[in-house]
Amino acid sequence: MSDDKHFYLTTPIYYVNDVPHIGHAYTTLACDALARYKRARGYEVSFLTGTDEHGQKVEKAAHAKGETPLELADRVVKRFQSLWEKLNISNTDFIRTSQERHKLAVQEIFRNIEAKGDIYLGEYEDWYCTPCETFWTETNLLDGNCPDCGRPTDKLKEESYFFRMSKYQEQLLAHIEANPDFIQPKSRRNEILSFIREGLRDLSISRTTFSWGIPVPNNDKHIIYVWFDALTNYISALGYPHDSEGNFKKFWPCDVHVIGKDILRFHTVYWPTFLMAAGIPLPKKVFAHGWWTVEGQKMSKSLANVVEPNMLIDKYGVDAIRYFLLREVPFGLDGDFSHSALVHRINSDLANDLGNLVSRSTAMLSKYFNGELTNPGKTTETDTILQDKFIRQIGVVDDHMEALAFNKALQSIWELVSAANKYIDDSAPWALAKDADQRERLGTVMYNLLEAVRLIGLLVTPFMPGTGANICNILGIDPDDQQLDKHDKWGLLQPGTKIEKAAPLFPRIESE
Ligand code: ME8
Repeated sequence: MSDDKHFYLTTPIYYVNDVPHIGHAYTTLACDALARYKRARGYEVSFLTGTDEHGQKVEKAAHAKGETPLELADRVVKRFQSLWEKLNISNTDFIRTSQERHKLAVQEIFRNIEAKGDIYLGEYEDWYCTPCETFWTETNLLDGNCPDCGRPTDKLKEESYFFRMSKYQEQLLAHIEANPDFIQPKSRRNEILSFIREGLRDLSISRTTFSWGIPVPNNDKHIIYVWFDALTNYISALGYPHDSEGNFKKFWPCDVHVIGKDILRFHTVYWPTFLMAAGIPLPKKVFAHGWWTVEGQKMSKSLANVVEPNMLIDKYGVDAIRYFLLREVPFGLDGDFSHSALVHRINSDLANDLGNLVSRSTAMLSKYFNGELTNPGKTTETDTILQDKFIRQIGVVDDHMEALAFNKALQSIWELVSAANKYIDDSAPWALAKDADQRERLGTVMYNLLEAVRLIGLLVTPFMPGTGANICNILGIDPDDQQLDKHDKWGLLQPGTKIEKAAPLFPRIESE
């Protein structure tokens, strides 16, 4: 069991028939901000992402390109890995479902559930949506098409292994009711509760019409259903079932599976019932975030409006993209990506508010004290208000991060940026500088200001690691020695520190 100071979080594993776009980047970034925050709070973090490589959809895509599925996967997996590197993602593992460690775990969990009598061989006669890799009954269909994506389905009649999902209906309902935080946000929880109450059917978990996947143990005519295979990644990556390195013991149950709302049912109905049948504890939380559209439209290859993250990073910089995606939309709600909103955020929040704070503060220190921080003198009420606000707000940010409310956490940090900017205006250092008797006061104001900048730098680091490190470097402190946990107090900057006038952190973007 994971204790308090271990934290395990996961992204979905992405299909390799598509190349990464901002939707994938969004989930992975959110996890990265959380992973970095938890590390900064002293946790040992296991952060998993990876690729979902099996199944009919990938097999079809590979054949269409004249490749084997593994060739396709090898090619696309590099696209994901290089994007994560470019986005500064701090995952601790990357799982590919084509790996041997994964295959072993999937077959083991299958065997385990079968041995309990919860898997049986029967005949499947229903409809299948390949793009969604989902089974549907005749009554589920909308005009013969998939009720989720609206695309045509295929009628399947074949021998299949079934999982006795129906048997776990009451146990699953009881679990969701007893654990109000298990499915988040709340609206999603209600959606799943009503889905389960309509009745769970047994689930077909093998197919015989294609070969790209993991064979059923002792019957390799059957390939294990791609979702049974994919969901198991969350434990295969921890070393289940052998756990020779003790990671499963240390990190399971998972603290949070972060996913998009499109795959909620797989994570909150299928996965928990598989685990119940296998006698494995359930993850603590599944958080389903909302859906991005682009300039008001659904992203799609046919509309040619898929937003390519590499292009955005090259144009605007990695931290600006990280900031925008997590700041713009409340985590859990749908959002719209537009270039004008992105440019607006960069200019107002990053270049103006944060960038100006850092350049003004360091420029004044350089001008009035030759860049050397002096000992703070007597504290006034203005100083106390600033200090108290910072200390209080660090707790507020913590609460928001616990709730995965990334936009609120950033909003709270920006209230501090505004408070520091206001402190400059209220203290008017330029006026103090004209009066020799106010030298000590001027030094105190500069000290407080740079201390505010230091704390803001610490708080933005999980969201914008490059900017956080940049701010530390400007302040002459080692970014690697700035764990939030130990440095979230007021007054840690050392008087005597030399601080150079900073170059602008974020250039303003001129609208096209
Ligand atoms: O579903 N807005 O993989 P996938 C927000 N392999 N998020 C989006 C998005 C958008 N427009 N588009 C994609 C699969 N996402 C399975 C998962 S897990 C055991 C198996 C993100 O490549 C979001 O996280 O289709 C969504 O859930 C995921 O990408 C789907 O990725």
